[in-house]
Amino acid sequence: MAVRVLAISGSARKGSLNQKLLNVAVQGALAAGAEVTVVSLSDYPLPFFDSELEREQGVPAHALDLQKLFSEHDALLVASPDYNGGYTALLKNAIDWMSRPTPEKVSGLALFANKATAVISASPGPMGGIRSMLAMRSVLEKLGALLIPQTFTLGLAHQAFVENDQLGNPQVESEVKAIGAALVRFSGALRAA
Ligand SMILES: Cc1cc2nc3c(=O)[nH]c(=O)nc-3n(C[C@H](O)[C@H](O)[C@H](O)COP(=O)(O)O)c2cc1C
Repeated sequence: MAVRVLAISGSARKGSLNQKLLNVAVQGALAAGAEVTVVSLSDYPLPFFDSELEREQGVPAHALDLQKLFSEHDALLVASPDYNGGYTALLKNAIDWMSRPTPEKVSGLALFANKATAVISASPGPMGGIRSMLAMRSVLEKLGALLIPQTFTLGLAHQAFVENDQLGNPQVESEVKAIGAALVRFSGALRAA
């Protein structure tokens, strides 16, 4: 059975550089034999996490939908935009809601535990969002995800994409695709172990 990868970006912006980068890494995962679901958080709007809101109204339907998606996939491919040296509130908020108990009273943390995970980032700055990539790795590690050692950050990302949202530099493109492929290999090895 093919490895199932859930690909998610921390930006819901039209024309998002992180979504474009994610899509290239997805091509690498597909070429490595995975089935990939690309999720846009714009389709899952959520209120800011608030424990009173949770107590009064429960976990919102969109968070439950995301929990279900996470439970149905073996591996996680995340593109994490850099806002002021960290990840976006959009992505962290979705993770916080997902980490809450599921309707079956299973800890939401179980959705992340032992899941093969890769994090990449793109930014117009020269560092390519490296701080966000590292900070998001740290959050996901804390939740028990198994982070592959390979990482990629794309600096000057606003100049990097050409027609059809492909990367202009073939060397860079193959490095990004290699992240997707490495994630699939790692997830397959975890399953076999
Ligand atoms: C509030 C805010 C803070 C930002 N801070 C940084 C930063 O610290 N470092 C950086 O490289 N880019 C920073 N940026 C630029 C974003 O990385 C850039 O807008 C990027 O395109 C966002 O990702 P997206 O294209 O996927 O939406 C910031 C943007 C915003 C809106």
